[in-house]
Amino acid sequence: MAAEVGPLRPEAGRSLTLSVRLPRTLPALMQDAGIGRTLVEVDELQQRVRELGAAITRDYAGREPLLVCVLKGAVFFLSDLMRVIDLPCEVDFMAVASYGSATQSSGVVRILKDLDAVIDNRDVIIVEDIVDSGLTLQYLLRNLNARGPRSVAVCALLTKPSRLEVDLEPRYVGFEIPDTFAIGYGLDHDERYRNLPYVAALHEE
Ligand code: IMP
Ligand code: MG
Repeated sequence: MAAEVGPLRPEAGRSLTLSVRLPRTLPALMQDAGIGRTLVEVDELQQRVRELGAAITRDYAGREPLLVCVLKGAVFFLSDLMRVIDLPCEVDFMAVASYGSATQSSGVVRILKDLDAVIDNRDVIIVEDIVDSGLTLQYLLRNLNARGPRSVAVCALLTKPSRLEVDLEPRYVGFEIPDTFAIGYGLDHDERYRNLPYVAALHEE
């Protein structure tokens, strides 16, 4: 039987003051043997996301970009990034599956969830967690460009330049990382580790 969970609500008569301070460490999770060396620290992530937000704010002044977030990994990055873009902007989501092995994409991509928004004449910014071979992004760019947007740019938190197989350069890049499997800050391995507050290398036994 599932454990009973009591209600979590403010005591009667007391106002609930929200003071959200996100953890920089998760002590129990971080014991996990799958978490290897740190690739990008929390402070570096925060600083870089602010810089990317400022660059987008500058470049898109006077426009209302539509951020297209590629599920699921980029959700974490998107939510931090969007809150430092000082412009009216919108968000929409796409889910794609890339045929291939767990760590190697094939370039054959299937759309699992398409955009709700119509993007003709819109300034679209694809927000990706990581560009590895670039095959997924290449497909997405072709697909979205065929819908008549005013512009399409890519903002990727991470790239692995040594793995890139296609001729494609995201306009905005957070960090270049070496050829290693990354986890944390949205990135998963078998759906785990997305809640790790920083980016680490997967430590394989
Ligand atoms: P690509 O098509 O080879 O560029 O792969 C892109 C997708 O594969 C990303 O959007 C991720 O979902 C996944 N991926 C690639 N490399 C990594 C990694 O190091 N960690 C976690 N996911 C990755
Ligand atoms: Mg992804």
